[in-house]
Amino acid sequence: MAHQATLTIDGKVLELPVLEGTEGELAIDIAQLRAKTGLITYDPGYGNTGACRSAITFIDGEKGILRYRGIPIEEFDRPHPDFLEVAALIIFGELPDKAFLKRFSAISTANANLDESMKHHFEGFPENAPPMAQLSAMLNAISCFHPEFFTLTNGVSFEQAAGRVISQIRTVAAYSYRRSKGLPFIYPNPALRYCANFLHMMFSMPYQDYLVEPEIEDALNLIFILHADHEQNCSTSTVRMVGSSQANLFASCASGVCALWGPLHGGANLAVIEMLESIQRGNQKPEDCIALAKDKSSGFRLMGFGHRIYKNYDPRAKILKKCCDRVLKKLGIQDPLLDIARRLEELALKDPYFIEKKLYPNVDFYSGIIMRAIGIPTSMFPVMFSIGRLPGWIAQWKEQQDDPAKRIARPRQIYVGAPLRHYVPLEKRK
Ligand code: SDX
Repeated sequence: MAHQATLTIDGKVLELPVLEGTEGELAIDIAQLRAKTGLITYDPGYGNTGACRSAITFIDGEKGILRYRGIPIEEFDRPHPDFLEVAALIIFGELPDKAFLKRFSAISTANANLDESMKHHFEGFPENAPPMAQLSAMLNAISCFHPEFFTLTNGVSFEQAAGRVISQIRTVAAYSYRRSKGLPFIYPNPALRYCANFLHMMFSMPYQDYLVEPEIEDALNLIFILHADHEQNCSTSTVRMVGSSQANLFASCASGVCALWGPLHGGANLAVIEMLESIQRGNQKPEDCIALAKDKSSGFRLMGFGHRIYKNYDPRAKILKKCCDRVLKKLGIQDPLLDIARRLEELALKDPYFIEKKLYPNVDFYSGIIMRAIGIPTSMFPVMFSIGRLPGWIAQWKEQQDDPAKRIARPRQIYVGAPLRHYVPLEKRK
């Protein structure tokens, strides 16, 4: 059935086309609104605004559905594919065949190392420099060694650029950690898979290789898969915004890192652990924390809870909660923070405030506990989110570049400042 929207403004009637998505989502197409009426729409935070048509990820927030290129994320759990395979699906649109996956993995393996002179950049940062500040800077620094990637004119150069940046973000992350600990950089080992190589660069020593436990590699691989894309979230929209000016892939992804850094977004996994540690340190009762979270004046938010799109349990959180139990059991870890998290979830899910506002655990609520258990320092948590999300940023940037209707993003505003007035020379001002 074709849908139609009618808008009446001061007696003038405007028929507006309605777009329908694959799963029946409807959108009013207002592309001609200002031209026909002189009016714009107003939607702070863009909660009601579709910025693009995309074929990459589908989310039904009411039902808690998340699919990558049509495949439910639950199907990537137990046993799950390698992160690079899911990255290839998200970026290139189809599950890769063996030959393509071999070629794409080979690009990643062959380009895991950074240019030697990149190492001086790390030394230019103070040891306690935030890893996300380093990561955003380094993504742009990497591009300086590959000017051929500033304009990706064909599929081959795009594939090369995508494979390299997915590989090297891992190396940059590991090196920023090593620098923060005063440890020597560990070169990537081409014999290792994506996640195992990252753990090797993070935790090996020149005299002793880090023994990669399959369960730890498996958990990290799953964490990256579950973070790989999430349609038009804040950081991905930032990548599209920057990419819309024809900025290159590296600069656009570096902007995504900056947006993801915020504690309301990718910094939430770190904020969750800090919240749980504070509760534990202060010996606070979870019941009291729930009460604080409901009291606006307290300034306390239950981090890892709530979502702009999910008004149901975040499907990623469900999978990560099971992974959490599995990893801690396998490693024989009793983490009191997990007990606190579970109690907070139990209380919140039956509390009218959270039920009415449809606040459920999101992807960040359990991911930090897993990363803590596998030895990732909390300061690196947003960086881990970035490594996982990079394929999504790349895919969304490319989808936008390939859109024949693409144009520079330039929202409008409602001006509420001073009416017309004139300059008064300094000597005449009071
Ligand atoms: C990510 O967009 C994505 O897809 C993001 C992401 C991705 O994969 O890219 O899923 C990753 O960013 C997950 C979210 C991580 N952030 C957090 O966990 C931080 C805690 N959550 C909140 O700050 C909040 O829920 C947001 C930021 C996630 C969503 O914010 P919205 O959509 O702007 O919702 P809101 O702040 O307007 O809240 C609506 C109501 C408010 O109460 P009222 O003003 O209506 O009375 O719910 C309340 C809020 O006070 N509320 C919370 C709450 N989250 C919302 N109250 C207590 N604790 C919370 N966590």
